[in-house]
Amino acid sequence: MNLQQLRVLVVGCGNIAGGFDAERPASAPPLTHAGAYWRHGGFRLVACVEPDAARREAFMQRWLVEKGYATIDAAAAAGPYDVVSLCSPTALHAAHIAAILSLHPRSLFCEKPVTRSAAETAAAVEVCAAAGVKMAVNHNRRWAPDIVRLQRELRAGAAGQGGPWGAVRSAIGIYNKGILNNGSHLVDLVQMLLGPLELIAAGAPVFDHWPDDPTVPALLQTRAGVPVTLNAAHAADYAIFELQLLTERGMIAMEDGGAGWRVRRIVGSPHFKGYAVLDGGQRTSGEYHASTLAAVGNLHDALTREMPLASTGETALAAQRLCELIGSRSLSRAERAGRGAETDFATSTAQATLAGAFASTRSPATLPTLTEVQAVAPSADGRGPKDLVRAA
Ligand SMILES: NC(=O)c1ccc[n+]([C@@H]2O[C@H](COP(=O)([O-])OP(=O)(O)OC[C@H]3O[C@@H](n4cnc5c(N)ncnc54)[C@H](O)[C@@H]3O)[C@@H](O)[C@H]2O)c1
Repeated sequence: MNLQQLRVLVVGCGNIAGGFDAERPASAPPLTHAGAYWRHGGFRLVACVEPDAARREAFMQRWLVEKGYATIDAAAAAGPYDVVSLCSPTALHAAHIAAILSLHPRSLFCEKPVTRSAAETAAAVEVCAAAGVKMAVNHNRRWAPDIVRLQRELRAGAAGQGGPWGAVRSAIGIYNKGILNNGSHLVDLVQMLLGPLELIAAGAPVFDHWPDDPTVPALLQTRAGVPVTLNAAHAADYAIFELQLLTERGMIAMEDGGAGWRVRRIVGSPHFKGYAVLDGGQRTSGEYHASTLAAVGNLHDALTREMPLASTGETALAAQRLCELIGSRSLSRAERAGRGAETDFATSTAQATLAGAFASTRSPATLPTLTEVQAVAPSADGRGPKDLVRAA
């Protein structure tokens, strides 16, 4: 089949742009933008933007990119583009989206988080829509074939049409490395599977990786009242991203980010007569690693056949808004605790750092003062007031 060749510009030539695939065998499923574009066959890597000359050169050689530039503005020379992949550091995304729009591409494949704040992401979604630019956001599980099947099955259960699982009773998510950076993947996944969530309560922040993006445990619920918990692990221990769904007909657990699944079915208890329990379950492989190739396939279909995108600016914005709310509730909680007679270091850390992370969502009157932050002693891990001030 002769696929229409779409012209691609990649902005930011690091890990997710191509680095993760650079040394993987050609037969391995692609995990990056460049790897997926090549494997799909319906894209042509016309140009890339990377200020680091050596990295730009290596990327061009590895992925046979025709032109390389140090800035987005300079990349206008090789335009027009059908697709721009935005893979630069998150802090630059808001400015980069504005610059990319001046190149008038047909679509933007944006890495997550779209920007650092829900307000900036909302603005980006709005300007892309106004310019007629199709925006896909790489919450990649929305394209994993097994997760798409599970979504269909769970919807049938929610609609009272049975399916293999029946009704969902509760969901348990486990993550680390930031409510925005990884929590947004988890919130987006649960919203994809179970529909919109509302926040009931947020727990204390865990600063396990980013100084401005703590991991936060939280309790949420779906519109039908299904409880969903987000549980915090510590990024210094190991990376973890898992989801357990307790359903009427058994338990489904996504393990290892979606690389594996464990399904536990109902059996009679071997010990207690008349009791129904869950069996030990079986681990099967997941199709998570097929998601990036499926994503660019969806992008190609969206541009050549007007197919809808599975992960959009709107779905990403919904997840980011909720994550931001979870973060700011966590801050308020830490702040309330800090108003006690003794202000401990953890509370002040939470105040100072979360104030920086979520400043856009809070009134300045409730932010901690510099004196309050400077008054605290250094912690055991060596982070002192200066770090907190910088983070804030
Ligand atoms: N979807 C996912 O699961 C996933 C996984 C990893 C990263 N990400 C996201 O992808 C983005 C990049 O992450 P990464 O891990 O590839 O980072 P990275 O540091 O490996 O790559 C970023 C690249 O952007 C380049 N860059 C810096 N300034 C630039 C500029 N002004 N213009 C163009 N390029 C510039 C850097 O030199 C670097 O090569 C982040 O937003 C991150 O959150 C998403």
